[in-house]
Amino acid sequence: MNILLLGSGGRESALAWKISQSPECSSLIIAPGNGGTARYGRNLPLKPTDLDAVADAVKSNSIDMVVVGNEDPLVAGITDFLAKEAPEVLVVGPTQAGARLEGSKDFAKQFMEAEGIPTARYRSFTADSLEEGKRFLATLTPPYVLKADGLAAGKGVLILDNLAQAQKELGEMLGGMFGASSATVVVEEFLSGIECSVFVLTDGNGGYRVLPVAKDYKRILEGDKGPNTGGMGAVSPVAFADETFMRKVEDRIIKPTIEGLRKRAIDYKGFIFLGLINVAGEPMVIEYNVRMGDPETEAVMLRVASDLVPLLKAAAEGDLGEMPLEHDPRAAATVMLVSGGYPGSYPKGKVIGGLDAADGNPDTILFHAGTAVDNNGDTVTSGGRVIAVSSYGKDLAEALSRSYATAAKVSFDGKTFRSDIGNEFV
Ligand code: AMP
Ligand code: GLY
Repeated sequence: MNILLLGSGGRESALAWKISQSPECSSLIIAPGNGGTARYGRNLPLKPTDLDAVADAVKSNSIDMVVVGNEDPLVAGITDFLAKEAPEVLVVGPTQAGARLEGSKDFAKQFMEAEGIPTARYRSFTADSLEEGKRFLATLTPPYVLKADGLAAGKGVLILDNLAQAQKELGEMLGGMFGASSATVVVEEFLSGIECSVFVLTDGNGGYRVLPVAKDYKRILEGDKGPNTGGMGAVSPVAFADETFMRKVEDRIIKPTIEGLRKRAIDYKGFIFLGLINVAGEPMVIEYNVRMGDPETEAVMLRVASDLVPLLKAAAEGDLGEMPLEHDPRAAATVMLVSGGYPGSYPKGKVIGGLDAADGNPDTILFHAGTAVDNNGDTVTSGGRVIAVSSYGKDLAEALSRSYATAAKVSFDGKTFRSDIGNEFV
């Protein structure tokens, strides 16, 4: 098959790495890709949210299947658009109606409430109901959780300890702090527990497969301190996500989610990302995403033992049937190397050295994220998250020590990483 993968992050590097190993993949285009993805196929410069450009690329490259890596094109309706413009092409990714699970937190909460899916108690407010929102906050116990309804590049969630501050921030969010994204704000109860990320590949007809479970590390500083980032590392498996926990996840969350989508006639063929929290052994949903996670994918792809392409194809065709998705018994750990200053402002264009540090090493892979090749042919930094160093190990301790050994050999001005990824599991 000729495959087009949309996106440019570490997630897409890991997907491209996995897809390109398939005997069923005859050609792979990554659009736009990054400074490292050309080793898995061909980079094509286009904006994934430019739906016309994507449709043109599908037609002019005889693409058989599009795999949508990031949420923006899904929320913009790429799947519906291609169904009209290029009806033959298979698409891994939900329609715009399905993408609302990520694109609107208010929709996601209503959906979960209607389907009886365990999640934090909530109410939604707009500028007109600000005073009511302040009164609702006063009925909750701190900390207070405020979420912009729409996409806000991972920045739309505020967690505040103080009631007066939460009431003030609610007013500011509704006043346009995150633009149109926060015209509606979800206020919800704070849940206490450890988070994990569960990924489900579904075929839109009730069939699904669960991928290896991962945990990501969102805060910039060791000990989970400092501001949230896109993710500083990931590990898989996650010890507490054992058989008992995962049975609860399937029965209480995955099955009702898939049934709820079907009931609403939402055509959902693709990945569902369940951001879960383990509250005293009981899984609850923090959020839905409509794509794989980043950097979780950089660990999870190492643990998908089956060929991914037939699974993606079957999901996009609407019939996963009995096709197995085998998990690799080894552990995987990803350490993200980020630019100094991230998640605030940071310089770009720093030359990266040591990119061959894992060459010839079957246990470690350097997945490029925010990298580009400059006019001199040097690979340079071009984003906050730069390189995801991912390793296999017989257990997490071994996987982590391999990733850290390689992380030390990659160099660029300002290189920063957390040295406590996975610590609680080793
Ligand atoms: P979200 O964008 O919804 O994933 O929220 C970002 C982060 O905020 C989550 O990964 C959690 O760490 C935290 N968070 C969101 N909602 C809650 C909640 N109800 N209780 C506790 N933490 C939360
Ligand atoms: N790592 C969390 C996300 O991809 O949203």
